[in-house]
Amino acid sequence: MMNKTFYIETYGCQMNFADSEVVNSILMSQGMLPVQSAEEADVIFVNTCSIRENAESRVWNRLKEFRSLKKSRGDLMVGVLGCMAERVREQIIDKEKLVDIVVGPDAYRDIPNLLAEVEDGRKAVNVLLSLEETYADISPVRTSGNGVTAFVSIMRGCDNMCAFCVVPFTRGRERSRPLESILREIDELNHQDYKEVTLLGQNVNSYKFENIDFTHLMDEASSLYPEMRFRFSSPHPKDFPEPLLHLIAERPNLCSYIHIPAQSGSSSMLERMKRPYTREQYLVLIDKMRAIIPGVSLSTDIIAGFCDETEQEHLDTMSLMHAVEYDLAYMFAYSERERTLAQRKYEDNVPEKVKKRRLTEIIRQQMSIQEKNNKKEIGRRHLVLVEGTSKRSDQQLSGRTDTNKIVVFDREKYLKGDYVEVEITDSTSATLIGTPVEKSSIARFYSVPAYA
Ligand code: 5AD
Ligand code: SF4
Repeated sequence: MMNKTFYIETYGCQMNFADSEVVNSILMSQGMLPVQSAEEADVIFVNTCSIRENAESRVWNRLKEFRSLKKSRGDLMVGVLGCMAERVREQIIDKEKLVDIVVGPDAYRDIPNLLAEVEDGRKAVNVLLSLEETYADISPVRTSGNGVTAFVSIMRGCDNMCAFCVVPFTRGRERSRPLESILREIDELNHQDYKEVTLLGQNVNSYKFENIDFTHLMDEASSLYPEMRFRFSSPHPKDFPEPLLHLIAERPNLCSYIHIPAQSGSSSMLERMKRPYTREQYLVLIDKMRAIIPGVSLSTDIIAGFCDETEQEHLDTMSLMHAVEYDLAYMFAYSERERTLAQRKYEDNVPEKVKKRRLTEIIRQQMSIQEKNNKKEIGRRHLVLVEGTSKRSDQQLSGRTDTNKIVVFDREKYLKGDYVEVEITDSTSATLIGTPVEKSSIARFYSVPAYA
């Protein structure tokens, strides 16, 4: 495989992007070279997502495009990685002959062998799931990031078995990565001048390695690297540790931002979804977050139109979102997935039109909440970590507040990777606009008592 070029196209969640960086590392250690487009590559990989039907259809379409590319270039290899691998295997390899290689999320170390099999003229498949694999010893190669913020995967798989979710089937059982290998990776990032790390897992707060839990891990990382910011995604409301809230409140470099998926605001619906909390318990958790971390920013995931959803249950979701006033929400129409409890036991019986209408109502309400929340930011000062040039203008920079809001401001003398104190002057539902005050640091910015 020496000197062959490869290109990875990634779909789905942050975990998938982190996995592609692990695959980069594995391929580059074989002497393969990453390129920036499919057209230049000897091997094209698509890292896939199965979470909803439309995520899968995008990948199918893309694979068909690559098939045409293959017709004109006989030696081109195409591979499917990630969550669709298990399902795709039969359909793609046997029926449609779209790809040469199929690799599930726990089998990436096997890619070099699989590529060799393909070179010998065979189709190669490994979709075995593992109880141990965490890729702990592999240093991910971040070829496409901004050089400032990075993802670090701390655990894999999920044991929650929410009724709607395919992840336990595509990614297997939960397992955590050793603390020292996580800290080693953060240390490498620190040496490479990265300023922000998001710790990733399908269920991060159930991180447990030997006697180290998630709060302990956050404590270690944030005290070792006080000028790096730490975020995490995604926790589950059922076992959110209160000591973590106190730790976030007291450590300036643990970001005051929590993504806390509710999925629904109705207790009867949550029960059907097999989410082990009620609306009331969820709201108690939110109150606790706000009491312990003043000014904490919250975001959520919501599903509209899950099985048997009544109009009242939908209204309960609307009212929960209205009560919490999330700063951000990822909102989806329910999409039935094979093998899940919902697919086996319930009926996907909310008509498509009703799902869409409910989703639209949810999104519309959320946009107006965000607009209102963001207006309140005008006049406040935030410490913004600059991630790069703004998409709209070369003369402007774009970065994020501790509370995860995107801020755009004039470039002046500031650079990517700088922490800049910015005063907010204007806002939309998605972005804050500000004026830079001065270059700062976490230690300096948060030591000023006037910070509100
Ligand atoms: N249909 C729609 N949305 C889903 N999600 C998970 N499974 C489904 C599904 N079958 C959403 C959940 C989850 C987010 C990552 O995707 O809200 O938190
Ligand atoms: Fe998609 Fe879920 Fe797999 Fe991430 S874990 S790629 S969201 S199916």
